[in-house]
Amino acid sequence: MQEFIDPFLDISHFSFDEIGSTNDEAFNLSQDREVDCFFVIAKKQSNGRGRRGRQWVSEKGNLYCSAFLKKPASAEKCSQLSFVTVVALGWALCELEPSSITHFHYKWPNDLLWNGAKLAGLLLEARPHEKGLNVVVGLGVNCKSFPEKTPYTATSLVQEEVNIDAERLFQTFKRAFIEALKIWNKGHNFNFFRDEWLKKAAGLGKEIIVRLDNEEIIGIFKTIDKEGRLILKLFDGTIRKISAGDVFFPAIKG
Ligand code: BTN
Repeated sequence: MQEFIDPFLDISHFSFDEIGSTNDEAFNLSQDREVDCFFVIAKKQSNGRGRRGRQWVSEKGNLYCSAFLKKPASAEKCSQLSFVTVVALGWALCELEPSSITHFHYKWPNDLLWNGAKLAGLLLEARPHEKGLNVVVGLGVNCKSFPEKTPYTATSLVQEEVNIDAERLFQTFKRAFIEALKIWNKGHNFNFFRDEWLKKAAGLGKEIIVRLDNEEIIGIFKTIDKEGRLILKLFDGTIRKISAGDVFFPAIKG
């Protein structure tokens, strides 16, 4: 493991050639550190984890990083950080490749799609700490390769002919994320990120399919609320507020 300190931000990142999961390592490292924020990055993960208990295939060449945040906000606002993080990733992509803005969209709850396929995913985990929550936000971006046979079609930057490697993306993302945290202001300014996210939301105003653990619901994707829940209008007019699930878009019949 090597520790680097960003001279502008005065924030450390711990870099590994290979690790089980950067999310797990971030929680481990936090135990003997009294800092509010640091990052963990790995070239490869042997036990990369995705949302809803899924595996995150973690070959060399992609970005695997996690940010540790010590009690970043009151407990009920911590989940907002997944929107803050994915918007910061959008900013980083635009900074490195301005034409990105025409290619990517955010898919609820916290994926980033490129030309409709999944480029990046995010796993937010929280653990109780002194009457609050410590949070780790893990980000996986397919820079070089992408897995086949995933529930949702994936892609990579190389596949999309975009020349941004994992290290460069990490450096830019890290600064965008720290800037985003300042604007978010412990959740007092979530509306800003809600608006940013909605501007680029995939499927907004359209029919979507949401798969829950034991149910599949179809409806119109109206918006997200101030807790980040997906607001779906069913065909009988009822409104469902959804906290966790997987979104799919119906194939357009031509
Ligand atoms: C998903 O879309 O299911 C979320 C994927 C999150 C993957 C990242 S890679 C870095 C961090 N470490 C992990 O084990 N998972 C997250």
